[in-house]
Amino acid sequence: MSGQSEIKQAVREKYGEAARRVAQSGQKTGCGCGSCGCDPVTSDLYQIGETAGLPDEAVLASLGCGNPTALAELRAGEVVLDLGSGGGIDVLLSARRVGPTGKAYGLDMTDEMLDLARANARKAGVANVEFLKGEIEHIPLPDRSVDVIISNCVINLSADKRQVLREAFRVLKPGGRFAVSDVVVRGEVPATVRRNMELWVGCIAGALEEKEFERLLREAGFENPSLEPTRIYRLEDARAFLAEAGMDAEGIAPEVDGRFMSAFVRARKPVSSPPGR
Ligand SMILES: C[S@@+](CC[C@H](N)C(=O)[O-])C[C@H]1O[C@@H](n2cnc3c(N)ncnc32)[C@H](O)[C@@H]1O
Repeated sequence: MSGQSEIKQAVREKYGEAARRVAQSGQKTGCGCGSCGCDPVTSDLYQIGETAGLPDEAVLASLGCGNPTALAELRAGEVVLDLGSGGGIDVLLSARRVGPTGKAYGLDMTDEMLDLARANARKAGVANVEFLKGEIEHIPLPDRSVDVIISNCVINLSADKRQVLREAFRVLKPGGRFAVSDVVVRGEVPATVRRNMELWVGCIAGALEEKEFERLLREAGFENPSLEPTRIYRLEDARAFLAEAGMDAEGIAPEVDGRFMSAFVRARKPVSSPPGR
């Protein structure tokens, strides 16, 4: 697999292009965390009505693999941070839930996505949101400043997941919640899949194995980690994402049938975390 900076560059290019496409032509982007309308990972994530009132561009730019704000507990007055906020859909949904006394931050490293998200926030007319430029491996917020961390199909894209979870832990207040949708793997997948850059930027190759995800959350200091599958990718889905990445879909799909899934991942920062943690 390529180095961390190559991965980041490839991710930036892919999602910069996706944001430009939505901003310029009002078209959704394509397969593997979103390129075609048939994408088994990104399609049909939000209930009809849930996105009513949001700008079309926020909905079109949705490239997640779940619906974290529907599954997370969000209360009026809380501070929410969305890691890898893209076009801003989950930030805008969170802002509604925490209300005017709360705040929703989005964090993203891709300029085009930040421009799109800020334009979407202006169109939506919401005041309690802020989009920050930065990397989820180095979150530009102080220690213990966030009640809930959400994220939608982004942690799999990082080449340093241990550092992302450490940072998530740092910025959460004691008792704060980690409530994230992501692609995860159950068991082993072929090394050829893990090495494919197209599948990495498409949110597949970098997915954590479910037990490893829980282990890294505990190692970062979180308690009660749990994973709840929300969508399991079967043979036909695997064929679609392997073919999109130019791989031997017929040969490899049976080996990954049922191994990839979207899951909702929860954990909590202990209430008793000592200062500096
Ligand atoms: C698959 S898209 C998901 C966007 C959004 N969460 C959604 O549901 O539509 C991934 C987003 O994460 C951002 N991203 C990926 N890796 C990142 C990193 N290491 N730091 C900050 N942002 C990152 C990309 O720029 C992109 O906007």
